[in-house]
Amino acid sequence: MAEPQTAAPPVASHRVTDSLVHKQKLIESALDAYTQFPSECPQVLRDAVRYSLLVPGKRLRPMLVMLAAEACGGSVEHAVPAACAAEMVHTYSLILDELPWMDDDDTRRGRPTTHKKYGDAVAILAGDALLALAFEVLARDVQPAEIAAGCCATLAAACGATALVGGQCDDVRAGISSGSKEMLESIHNRKTGALFLASLRLGALVAGATPEQHSALQEFGSHLGLAFQITDDLLDHDEDRRGTGGKRKGDRGKLTFPNLIGVDQSRRDVEQLVASSLEALEGFGPQARSLRALARFVSDRL
Ligand code: IPE
Ligand code: IPE
Ligand code: MG
Ligand code: MG
Ligand code: MG
Repeated sequence: MAEPQTAAPPVASHRVTDSLVHKQKLIESALDAYTQFPSECPQVLRDAVRYSLLVPGKRLRPMLVMLAAEACGGSVEHAVPAACAAEMVHTYSLILDELPWMDDDDTRRGRPTTHKKYGDAVAILAGDALLALAFEVLARDVQPAEIAAGCCATLAAACGATALVGGQCDDVRAGISSGSKEMLESIHNRKTGALFLASLRLGALVAGATPEQHSALQEFGSHLGLAFQITDDLLDHDEDRRGTGGKRKGDRGKLTFPNLIGVDQSRRDVEQLVASSLEALEGFGPQARSLRALARFVSDRL
């Protein structure tokens, strides 16, 4: 599959498109600037970091940061460092997720995964560098310092042992026969949902959101994060069934929604979760328009 040269906006419809393209450009250029490492950084590490980060991903997590800030009446420009930090953590998690002793995937977004291109050692180190950079960016570039500290604590909790890393640990160990729906939801909420929630919280923090706005966004994100990972499971399942996944190992034998409860029920769950996520935004006015569109994009992918 040919690699597009620039990232496609995640929600390409209606009035929101122009504003999303603008936000996406802000993210792309900031990610590029943040990874212009000085000469102390080995060239191969710089290349591997940039290869992994500066690809046309959907940029959903940075969009969640910016759109949450916008929904709370904050400045999108002020949210850029936090948005970049969320994408750095996401990319780090993908590099590790693809490794041979994790999902063992050879391709992502139609091209070799980081370890296939640069080897396992450099890939792991590129992940390390991205994780560290995320916190450097938050601590240095989010103002004032008190908000920066809150952002660091939020993101650290989301990628730690009780969240992303813990969810990934259970994910790699869970076989289809060993799982319940409750267990699977818990895995998805930790491995994927936690970073969705953290992204929304970062946006709310930099915008100086009210407690009501914080809690509505957390309610929104808890439904949307789960819906997103079920959608990802469904798309992987479909790719696997049609044999269009290239060298991706897919989710064969893994605990996923379609493997556990079937495709039709999984699709119904996504619809229900997206509807619940939209209900959580009812207290927001038109400034949450793009956030609503992003939620609809999750179910429209199916
Ligand atoms: C992939 O996330 C990993 C999951 C949590 C399912 P995305 O589908 O958002 O990946 P990119 O960044 O757009 O490639
Ligand atoms: C990845 O989930 C979740 C994290 C990276 C934390 P998946 O393993 O389903 O993501 P893909 O299918 O490789 O994108
Ligand atoms: Mg995985
Ligand atoms: Mg994977
Ligand atoms: Mg997947």
